Amino acid sequence: MNKAPWWKEATIYQIYPRSFFDSNGDGEGDLPGITSHLDYVKQLGVDAIWLSPFYTSPNKDGGYDVADPRDVDPRFGNLDDAKQLISVAHSLGLRVIADIVPNHFSDQHHWFQEALKAEKGSPERARFHFYDANPDGTPPNNWISLFGGPSWTQVEDGQFYLHLFDSSQPDLNWENPEVNDDFEKTLRFWIDLGVDGFRIDVAHGLVKEDVLKNHPDPQGLSNALRLDVDMEPEIRNALLQTVPYFDRQGVHEIYRKWRKLFDSYGDREIMAVAEAWVHPPVNATRYVRADELHQVFNFDLLTAEFQSDVLFDVIDRSIKLNETVNALPTWALSNHDSPRVASRIGAEEARALALFVFGLPGSAYIFAGQELGLPDGVLADSDRQDPSFFRTKGEIKGRDGARVPLPWNGDTAPFGFTTGKPWLPIAQSWKEFSVENEKLDPKSSLHLYRTALVLRKQHMQGAGNIQWLESPMHGVQSKSLLAYRRGSVTVVMNLSVEPQACEVEGKLLVASSGVVDAHNGKKVIPARSCTWFLA
Ligand code: GLC
Ligand code: CA
Repeated sequence: MNKAPWWKEATIYQIYPRSFFDSNGDGEGDLPGITSHLDYVKQLGVDAIWLSPFYTSPNKDGGYDVADPRDVDPRFGNLDDAKQLISVAHSLGLRVIADIVPNHFSDQHHWFQEALKAEKGSPERARFHFYDANPDGTPPNNWISLFGGPSWTQVEDGQFYLHLFDSSQPDLNWENPEVNDDFEKTLRFWIDLGVDGFRIDVAHGLVKEDVLKNHPDPQGLSNALRLDVDMEPEIRNALLQTVPYFDRQGVHEIYRKWRKLFDSYGDREIMAVAEAWVHPPVNATRYVRADELHQVFNFDLLTAEFQSDVLFDVIDRSIKLNETVNALPTWALSNHDSPRVASRIGAEEARALALFVFGLPGSAYIFAGQELGLPDGVLADSDRQDPSFFRTKGEIKGRDGARVPLPWNGDTAPFGFTTGKPWLPIAQSWKEFSVENEKLDPKSSLHLYRTALVLRKQHMQGAGNIQWLESPMHGVQSKSLLAYRRGSVTVVMNLSVEPQACEVEGKLLVASSGVVDAHNGKKVIPARSCTWFLA
């Protein structure tokens, strides 16, 4: 029998290295800190870790501004630490996914430094998007950075360079074959060092079209790309379809090449997952065609309301769309760019939704701290570090709230994360969320995750597709209940604020907040909770 590749239905734990564990008291998490806590990750029951960037970087955008993609930033350790991390992970049976950032480099990368010194039209400049100013001195077009402000910055000789993100993140010119050659070198470098896969940052952004044309609504466009903005989905989607620098056909050529590179490692089963914010949703499936990447993030659950019709649509659509290309979906409730799920939809709701998605086919991604039920950190403006905060002059608070370090143990903040001063403050009220505390509490979110992930392995991984269930009292899209059956497990979620009695066969496997047997043979599912039953 052919064994399914490891990544097919893996549970993947995202670690933001700066916020996980600090081994040397400088207040910032690091690679040795991760290595020393991999047993915790293993006990959680995940199959792999994804490490957000730890490469040499001036850290203007949390390391997504890479100055040397083939080395480790001293704040995180060195290459030997990376090797050690990978080898300990492998010895525990955990795969390792590295985060690769091909859309841009840091302005401190030697290529960009050389480009600054070189002349207009030189090969050094041709690695980026350098253009002359318009005759009236304005930038080549009116695009606005995703972090706010213009997406062009002028250099000494008057030319402008393009940066879709911070001005310290010049976009690379993927029409220049040197760029691809260098990235293939980087991919091989990390594969040779032992990594098992890649998360591809801004995977939809590499190819730009119409660079010398103005966009009719640049502000609308950059608003549509902001996660924190409440915008009518129709308006957002209409705008997204007009983005001249995202989701262009050319990106797929790049991933076809990369897929050949990954496949050349045969049994190593190197995988890649695309960060691609695209619309309409069907476009996402193009990234996971048989000769492209293995997975693409489905971001719908990062913004979906805790409502049965919304969740049904998002989940059902993702499963069906992936089926058309023979791929499996991905499920993520939180990541380092979005508000934490417990803050966004509520603590009970976050537990329920996690349990609901852990049963689904495909890969489940967990953002470190999510298993503890962490909310967003409450920060003063003076604590903030996200470039979007600065580039919008504070109008956007940015993503730091989701990046506050993890509380591990002890009675006082920073709860063992560091012996120094944490790079973002940890509130004293986080004591209840500490790993030590939650380990002791059988009702904790940590216990729920551990139990659920064991059961996911036993009953769900490889169990085929789901079948939506008509709940006995309401249709599938009832306001109160959402239920599916997978293999011999029935998963029921009650989305209402009242407990719901329902007829469901089988023995209770796990519940996000308990279940009561009613006298009439029905089960009572508590408000805002989810339960698995084994037939
Ligand atoms: C991705 C990353 C985000 C980063 C941006 C620019 O969206 O997830 O953290 O700021 O790319 O690299
Ligand atoms: Ca450190």
